[in-house]
Amino acid sequence: MSDSKSIGILTAGGDCQGLNAAIRGVAKSAIKQYGMEVIGFLDGFRGLAENRYERLGDDTLSGILTFGGTILGTSRDKPHKMSIGDKVVDTIAQAEDNYHKLHLDALVCIGGGGTQKNALRLLKKTSMNIVTLPKTIDNDVWGTDACFGYDTAVEIATEAIDRLHSTASSHHRVMVVEIMGHNTGWLTAASGLAGGADVVIIPEISYDIEVIKNSLIKRNRKGKRFSIVAVAEGARPKDEVEMPADCEDSAAVHLTHRLAELTGLETRLTSLGHVMRGGSPSAADRILATKLGTKAVDLIAQGQSGVMVAERGGYAVPVPLEEIAGNRRIIPPDHPILESLRSLGICLGD
Ligand code: F6P
Repeated sequence: MSDSKSIGILTAGGDCQGLNAAIRGVAKSAIKQYGMEVIGFLDGFRGLAENRYERLGDDTLSGILTFGGTILGTSRDKPHKMSIGDKVVDTIAQAEDNYHKLHLDALVCIGGGGTQKNALRLLKKTSMNIVTLPKTIDNDVWGTDACFGYDTAVEIATEAIDRLHSTASSHHRVMVVEIMGHNTGWLTAASGLAGGADVVIIPEISYDIEVIKNSLIKRNRKGKRFSIVAVAEGARPKDEVEMPADCEDSAAVHLTHRLAELTGLETRLTSLGHVMRGGSPSAADRILATKLGTKAVDLIAQGQSGVMVAERGGYAVPVPLEEIAGNRRIIPPDHPILESLRSLGICLGD
């Protein structure tokens, strides 16, 4: 164990709640427990390539636990394919050069699935030591039970569904709510269950428009004069004819029009969008981000590299990046959330 290491941190990909808690967890434990120097690269992999960074200390870390977003800024830039002016440049050699110029012993990359892939690329092509943390509201990083950002986003979507209930009920409408999640349905399934949605449509289960139509009409005939349809942004019908690949509308816009047309019920769409990524992290996300962050520093102090710190059974454990990068964690068909939704008679569109 050494007390003279220097480490860098960067946040990459879409922001989410808990990023500052993770930065704080990494940096405070690095400084306080191991006497390390810590710098934060700005705007993800772009800051690493452009050598833009700030030193992290008490002044920058104090009070950030509860803040949304990331104090370091983020971007979706990839180190091997970065737009610079009108060119797309491979900046991996620059990144390695900057890492060594700053005498870094390790780099902590905080991000989702794309970041895990980029981190593995840097690991394979350079002499940099890299440890990653899994963050994303989508909860789709392979190899971990949970990603920070997810819990807060579920709360936001659940509150939105709660609020939609009263207006849906007053106007006797079908309210479709579009929920982020990229190509997975974790956010939609969880908030649909917690918010008591009547229909939950996720990418993992291709929907049959007739099944959804029939469930809404059945509810209406039973005297339930409103319905809530929670639909994941990545949802897809099972029939290509229903929504051709070149359809310019989002799945939720398309579904809303089709349900209005097929059921004759008054229907409205609410898209939660980036609201789901904003604001202060929940207590669970603060705890998860801090726990994974402090563990990352322990692993670096022990000389480990090439791992993501995953949450498994309540413990923070290292998992080789090779196992993670390129895989996506989707909801398995027998997952308890789906089983509960089915047991309650909630329509999953299949
Ligand atoms: O990965 C998080 C996420 O919010 C997804 O749910 C969504 O598909 C995407 O990012 C939106 O990306 P952007 O912020 O680049 O519009």
